[in-house]
Amino acid sequence: MSMDKIVSLCKRRGFLFQSSEIYGGLNGFWDYGPLGVELKRNLKDTWWRDMVTGHDDLTAPAGAPQAYQMVGLDCSIIMHPQVWKCSGHYDLFHDFMVDCRESKKRYRYDQVVGRWVESKGQKVFVTVMPETDDPATEIEPRALKFFNLRAKQADQLVYHGSHASLATISDMATVLAPDAKQLGTLTPPREFNLMFKTIVGAMGTEEDAAFLRPETAQGIFVNFKNVVDSSRVKVPFGIAQIGKSFRNEITPRNFTFRSREFEQMEIEFFCSPESSNEWYRYWRDRRYQWYLSLGLSPERLRMREHDAAEIAHYSCGTADIEYAFPFLPAGEFGELEGVAHRADFDLRSHQEGKLVKKDGALVVETGTDGKPRHKGSGKKMDYLDQETNRKYIPHVIEPSAGADRATLAFLCEAYREDMAPNDKGEQEARVLLKLHPRLAPFKAAIFPLFNKDGMPEVAQKLYLKLKKRFNVFFDDGGSVGKRYRRQDEAGTPYCLTIDHTTLQDQTVTIRDRDTLVQRRISLDAVLPELEKLIEG
Ligand code: GAP
Repeated sequence: MSMDKIVSLCKRRGFLFQSSEIYGGLNGFWDYGPLGVELKRNLKDTWWRDMVTGHDDLTAPAGAPQAYQMVGLDCSIIMHPQVWKCSGHYDLFHDFMVDCRESKKRYRYDQVVGRWVESKGQKVFVTVMPETDDPATEIEPRALKFFNLRAKQADQLVYHGSHASLATISDMATVLAPDAKQLGTLTPPREFNLMFKTIVGAMGTEEDAAFLRPETAQGIFVNFKNVVDSSRVKVPFGIAQIGKSFRNEITPRNFTFRSREFEQMEIEFFCSPESSNEWYRYWRDRRYQWYLSLGLSPERLRMREHDAAEIAHYSCGTADIEYAFPFLPAGEFGELEGVAHRADFDLRSHQEGKLVKKDGALVVETGTDGKPRHKGSGKKMDYLDQETNRKYIPHVIEPSAGADRATLAFLCEAYREDMAPNDKGEQEARVLLKLHPRLAPFKAAIFPLFNKDGMPEVAQKLYLKLKKRFNVFFDDGGSVGKRYRRQDEAGTPYCLTIDHTTLQDQTVTIRDRDTLVQRRISLDAVLPELEKLIEG
């Protein structure tokens, strides 16, 4: 499926707009339009309902070691700066970047791709822009231009090795930067912290510096004791949070996939150290199934366990749930959610101070003076198990999802083009969004067939009745065929038409977006029927 078509539908129908578009946009920031805001809100509500409020805390779910509780939190975006020092984000949350002295552009070091090309006795690492879909097609013209050759002289280019990241190149003097004419214009890689810095209060000094949170997780960790003391939860239990996070990504790209402002849906699940591996497997599998249950196809969704080299130093296991987004080369997947076993790393960090791994153990990092580099809160983060009278710092399993990436994945999965009958009964091309009814912006649309004979009045009455329960749309403009097409593109799963028969026998037609099947049901049955179809 072409990404261009999805992007164009998103703009045309009001799912997504570039932020500050009238001023030329701001890279890495997006606005959700009238349809997009409903879709994303439905996604977040579905997650919250399935993970938190609708969770059965009396019965152990399939695959879980025992029953557990779930509660929610909504923490502030700006937190005490010490939070980020102890969590490790202050020192370690960075990417490497390179600057081009010629083009004045900045790139993420690991995202620039190139290939060694030799000609006229010179060997050059020719790179292309990070967002290039197929580097192979762009390297050759760049190499020809650099070596001053014409297209028919392409046989004078000798390629060495296959495509590789700039991060594999040690001598920057041999690199032709993505948008440069001269060799060796890139600076050596430099660290770039991804946290957005801001100033709290009127003084404006460096002491008042704070950060916009780069993840919602830390708000949960620092409130662990508050939740235990205030809500009678018992380990094992989970705390969920949905909220904005901010990362000053060097190269935001691929529509909303990598943005600078985005929303996360995170759970920190607290359990005993002995049971943590079982809980890790439970959450990994449960979260994967959640995406399938809402319509992502198993061919495009995969779960990938990290290998040892990829796993963070504190983690005992991490799996990514990944989706084959259409903007990625065939066979490549992009992360939707990470499920990580974080052991007691976070709670201990906020108790003792920033931790580092030394001789296989996690210890508080000290400076040259032997004092902790970043001091913890000193507050006890342990938990007393009343039944066994044992005190311990719980282990944590963290399923961390991106609401914008998931919204994008559901949009990509839903986009279809097929044939459907028009007003004359002839087959005609149509675009539809085959969104799960729980996610669809509008659950139903109500059409009076004609604007006369009492049909609008019946339609309006039904519309107002349904609106109390669901987000529904009223449309009395144009032919019914055209009205169907508009709703198909918006992903509305059901359309209800009020016609002459309605006036006689109080029935309406209900048309299914996907099967195109139309049947008559009584006006009184519409609400319970929609409830059954949408909520199961
Ligand atoms: N607390 C763990 C954590 O934040 P992460 O893998 O860095 O882990 C979790 O982020 C999820 O947040 C990702 O799987 C992704 O869905 C989303 N996410 C991360 N960076 C993002 C960005 N720049 N734009 C959009 N979504 C992003």
